[in-house]
Amino acid sequence: MKTFPQTAENLDFPADFIWGGATSAYQIEGAASEDGRGESIWDRFAHTPGKVAGGDHGDVACDHYHRVKEDIALFAELGIKAYRFSISWPRVQPLGQGPWNEEGWAFYGRLLDELDAHCIKAHVTLFHWDLPQALEDKGGWRARETCTLFAAYAAEFVRRFGSRVTSIATHNEPFCTATLGHEIGVFAPGLKDRAAAAQVSHHLLLSHALALRAMREAGHQGPIGIVLNQSPSYPANPDSEADRREARYADGFINRWYMDPLLRGAYPADIVELLGADAPRVEAGDMELIRSPIDFLGINYYTRTWSSTSEPKRPAPNEMGVTDLGWEVHPQGLTEHLIRIARDYIPPPIVITENGAAFADVLEGSAVHDEARVAYLKSHISAVRQAMDQGADVRGYFAWSLMDNFEWAEGYAKRFGLIYVDYPSLRRIPKDSALWFRDFIRAQRG
Ligand code: NOJ
Repeated sequence: MKTFPQTAENLDFPADFIWGGATSAYQIEGAASEDGRGESIWDRFAHTPGKVAGGDHGDVACDHYHRVKEDIALFAELGIKAYRFSISWPRVQPLGQGPWNEEGWAFYGRLLDELDAHCIKAHVTLFHWDLPQALEDKGGWRARETCTLFAAYAAEFVRRFGSRVTSIATHNEPFCTATLGHEIGVFAPGLKDRAAAAQVSHHLLLSHALALRAMREAGHQGPIGIVLNQSPSYPANPDSEADRREARYADGFINRWYMDPLLRGAYPADIVELLGADAPRVEAGDMELIRSPIDFLGINYYTRTWSSTSEPKRPAPNEMGVTDLGWEVHPQGLTEHLIRIARDYIPPPIVITENGAAFADVLEGSAVHDEARVAYLKSHISAVRQAMDQGADVRGYFAWSLMDNFEWAEGYAKRFGLIYVDYPSLRRIPKDSALWFRDFIRAQRG
């Protein structure tokens, strides 16, 4: 069996490889109703009793809205050269259409000023799940009209800030918005309707393509891509036809459902057949648009998917342990999946836009000794290097997350940060993993 060394210091990456950290607006900003920000579906969902663990919500979050200067200075101190963050659509356009909120845009202007001051490159995501509630009230992503409005918002973003950002991703993890938000109902807006979820997935892809076109028409020339969560799926028992079939379907729903239309221009036939009457309505010309060339593909990787149909189920081996969310630590899945993408598609350059782990961190004085997170990062960075050695064209790696934040339905109890956030005081404390990552990045630069 392949081993993943617990050290990554000796790994040599190309000099222009991007090393960064990521966050998203709703998870860190807070200031939920300040300076004209509109309500988002996550405000509504989180304030609905029973939806989020502990009744947590993003009203204050990490209070990044008010602490942006100090936060970016801290990221710079930790050697971060590239910062992936998202724009809150309801902050800049409270109703998702109509008037822009100048105070909201001004916040992102201040954020970009701070990044410039510290020579940190901005990698922006336009949609990280916080849809304006006013649009949800009109059908949200189930309505085709939302795609056009999203494209208008994207074009406005590049008119204002296009020249100041290094890359733009349209969407983050459309699978989560579609399936977790509309079929399973554990994310906003909390629907349980498979046909709606399928239609939403199509509209997210269509809106990505319309936004891409609109940004180009607005004159933007920089790299534009999309971020997908990818999870290679494995049958628990490779000799079981039922396990293999379930693993194929999991791969179809999570991976191929998004990769195939973007890179080949068609939904995977086996999943369309499985959806039957619930398959999305696709209009003439949609698929051609959706396969418009992208400049990079962002991949978020956390764990693999394990398919077992037997009773009792065969548990995943968990040879390298599990995280605080119970997710198997499996770096080899990242290597194998990156190689598979290079084999099965003709992909654009790939950026690992998220990778990281939640662990039950303990604050000891002013230190957090999160060895497990350091090991996780090292083994996954090694996994990326191994995939590159075998032909995958990977250009960057962003750790999720730069700081502890609102982990969606899990609330604040699950901590992914390299920086510990002491929520009562909002004090930031770099964990050992942040210090390790700083030294690792520094060593990479010679
Ligand atoms: C992916 C999402 O993009 C991010 O918002 C989330 O916090 C992490 N996964 C961890 O679950």
